[in-house]
Amino acid sequence: MAAPVVDAEYLKEIEKARRDLRALISSKNCAPIMLRLAWHDAGTYDVNTKTGGPNGSIRCEEEYSHGSNAGLKIAIDLCETVKAKHPKITYADLYQLAGVVAVEVTGGPTIDFVPGRKDSTVCPREGRLPDAKKGSQHLREIFYRMGLTDKDIVALSGGHTLGRAHPERSGFDGPWTKEPLKFDNSYFVELLKGETEGLLKLPTDKTLLEDPVFRKYVELYAKDEDAFFKDYAESHKKLSELGFTPP
Ligand code: HEM
Repeated sequence: MAAPVVDAEYLKEIEKARRDLRALISSKNCAPIMLRLAWHDAGTYDVNTKTGGPNGSIRCEEEYSHGSNAGLKIAIDLCETVKAKHPKITYADLYQLAGVVAVEVTGGPTIDFVPGRKDSTVCPREGRLPDAKKGSQHLREIFYRMGLTDKDIVALSGGHTLGRAHPERSGFDGPWTKEPLKFDNSYFVELLKGETEGLLKLPTDKTLLEDPVFRKYVELYAKDEDAFFKDYAESHKKLSELGFTPP
């Protein structure tokens, strides 16, 4: 599909959609699942074949029915109410804008958002997103395939400051932090504390402590929230623009 023309009118619609998303996400407390939707649309990117990425293809049943996307139809349907009011905006832009707004309204850093992403209905094969049961080698394989770095892996894992796992979706259960609707550095603080009753740590979270390169960032982000916010905003922007050349 062709790229949208990012003219003054498109930018105006983006600002209106941004406001609608703020209201929607605050009233429905759906920041976590909106962030997860943005990440799962973008995180299929393959830097070598230049396929996948933040292109809205997750709206197609073929893709949202992948096991790793369980539950995300809820977020797709919520975005549809905003799309109906601003039909010019591409799904690809809308989902990434929803991710940026989700972080903002829960108290996280401001993430620069550049519109102009093309929509696609070409879905990647299942298996491009990380498997929570695996270790650091797997995380590196997956994120390097996207063209991202060790620092991006740790900073973006901090996205688990929001939300929780649902047994009927992933088989895991519980939130990572005590305030799952607040975007802060508590994911890293909790990770360093070790097991806490009622809080979740996936194998892929725990592996960040075992790998010395990852651990350095975990320790930095746990003690310095400003450093986390700065790196998170940069890594999130990179994730949201995989394969996208801003117009
Ligand atoms: C939830 C795995 C990275 C944001 C989850 C869940 C799993 C998971 C298993 C639970 C899903 C459910 O049961 O509802 C992973 C793995 C990652 C990863 C293996 C590899 C590093 C990320 C990244 C972000 C992110 C990079 C965003 C920057 C979220 C959010 C939720 C979530 C916000 C909560 C969703 C909700 O409350 O409905 N993740 N994730 N994750 N993930 Fe990740």
